[in-house]
Amino acid sequence: MVSKKIKFVVSHPYTHFALIYDELMGDRYEKLWWKSFLRLSRQHRLKYECIADLAGGTGAAALRLYAPGKKIWIVDKSQAMLRQAKQKLPQAICLVQDIRHFRLPEKVDLVVCMYGGIHYLESLSEVRRFFQAVRRVLKPGGVFCFDQYTLQYLKKLCKQKQRVFEGENYKCYWNMHWDQKKRCAEIHMRGFEGQPRAWQNSWSEKHFHYAFLQKDVKKELKSANFDKIMGNYANKNSKMSQKDNFKLILAK
Ligand SMILES: C[S@@+](CC[C@H](N)C(=O)[O-])C[C@H]1O[C@@H](n2cnc3c(N)ncnc32)[C@H](O)[C@@H]1O
Repeated sequence: MVSKKIKFVVSHPYTHFALIYDELMGDRYEKLWWKSFLRLSRQHRLKYECIADLAGGTGAAALRLYAPGKKIWIVDKSQAMLRQAKQKLPQAICLVQDIRHFRLPEKVDLVVCMYGGIHYLESLSEVRRFFQAVRRVLKPGGVFCFDQYTLQYLKKLCKQKQRVFEGENYKCYWNMHWDQKKRCAEIHMRGFEGQPRAWQNSWSEKHFHYAFLQKDVKKELKSANFDKIMGNYANKNSKMSQKDNFKLILAK
């Protein structure tokens, strides 16, 4: 329980959370999509020298995709997340931008948007504009790879109501709520930094994850001229059936 008397600094998503993001998320999830990505990449003989990682955060995907000689851009609207990315991957060119209207100075072979980046878009028209912007930055024959959680999965996550994460210097409460009307998983995070019983900072961030039906997303991909859509289910370890959790989508 969080006492009502505590004053929280209210910040934009991924400001304070950025400092504990990597410790909290680990590499569990990324290992899963990476396996599927490699399989699809071999199957479709993907070659990429120039990459853009959108909503790239602390650079989890960029780190996997980068190799000496490649060029990688990480786009994210949180400077705090990008600071972490730059520390881990100094070769990356980090751009503080909103993916809803991002621009790159050059075209790339591969665009990725991993770990639910599209769920930050609030409507299908934002998804459409996003896909169109991705299409514009891809070289001919370039590939777009992203993941999408199903509505059932996001809804089910919210059934947990509260989660608590604890580390040596922090404690973080997540209160989760499913908004049926908006089809949105809302996570109200409240964090404490410092030492237990003598916390120095307390902060609060609200994160919103909008769900989209896969058929609608596919339709928007087609309308943005992605004609070839290849998908592959991942997360075989989940208790939910594979088709009910998330999908890795590769589009050309
Ligand atoms: C769950 S993290 C994913 C980070 C990374 N892709 C990964 O695999 O770990 C979501 C990221 O999306 C960023 N983000 C959310 N909405 C955004 C927007 N409209 N434009 C740019 N970045 C955004 C957040 O700042 C955060 O870094």
